Amino acid sequence: MEKINIAIDGPAAAGKSTVAKKVAEALHYTYIDTGAMYRAATYLALKNHANLDDEREILALLKQAPISLSYTDDAQHIFLGEVDVTDAIRTDDVSNNVSLVATHKGVRREMVKIQRELIKQAGVVMDGRDIGTHVIPDAAVKIFMIASVDERAERRYKENLAKGYEADLEAIKADIRQRDKIDQEREVSPLVKASDAIELDTTSQSIDEVKNEILAIVKEKVN
Ligand code: DC
Repeated sequence: MEKINIAIDGPAAAGKSTVAKKVAEALHYTYIDTGAMYRAATYLALKNHANLDDEREILALLKQAPISLSYTDDAQHIFLGEVDVTDAIRTDDVSNNVSLVATHKGVRREMVKIQRELIKQAGVVMDGRDIGTHVIPDAAVKIFMIASVDERAERRYKENLAKGYEADLEAIKADIRQRDKIDQEREVSPLVKASDAIELDTTSQSIDEVKNEILAIVKEKVN
């Protein structure tokens, strides 16, 4: 079967990464989580006590510790220089600051450069906020995944409890609203549905239902 690239965009906690991973697995494609790159830049800036409003400081740090990806047992690992930061980028501190770091034009330019290198070989499922609109404007399949704020917060809440973290549903809701606002209102590549993307509302759907819907769309496109 001919290989294509699949772009999956949508707001925070809409289920993109879980579904994208499963779609990639089913198709034997590579899954690329671009949010992890913005998170890694944020982690690096926080660790070095950089001023998050100053993109030059963040870019200088990224020069010393460039972002790269590698795959172990099909799982994406993200590195800053030689250091694997795959787990370190999932803290609340990173989550609460990543949208701000992702507003910077220069930071986005660097991330997109890496992302475009990765799609040179087709057979990629890439998720993020600007994949269908900016990173892969000619992607054969573009999905825009949405879900209500309540549903997304509930999912994140359960996920956190399952991982043994403390969780506060109202705080999670507030965080999701805040991230949506920053992601949608930023000047450079804001979160917006591409005109040729297919919108999937996952509010009352299971992961497998959404996965199968996307696989059917891919099948139709490839045939
Ligand atoms: O998918 P995520 O929640 O891990 O993404 C973290 C943040 O990174 C998100 O709030 C916005 C930003 N992001 C972005 O601006 N563009 C992307 N392609 C991916 C993520």
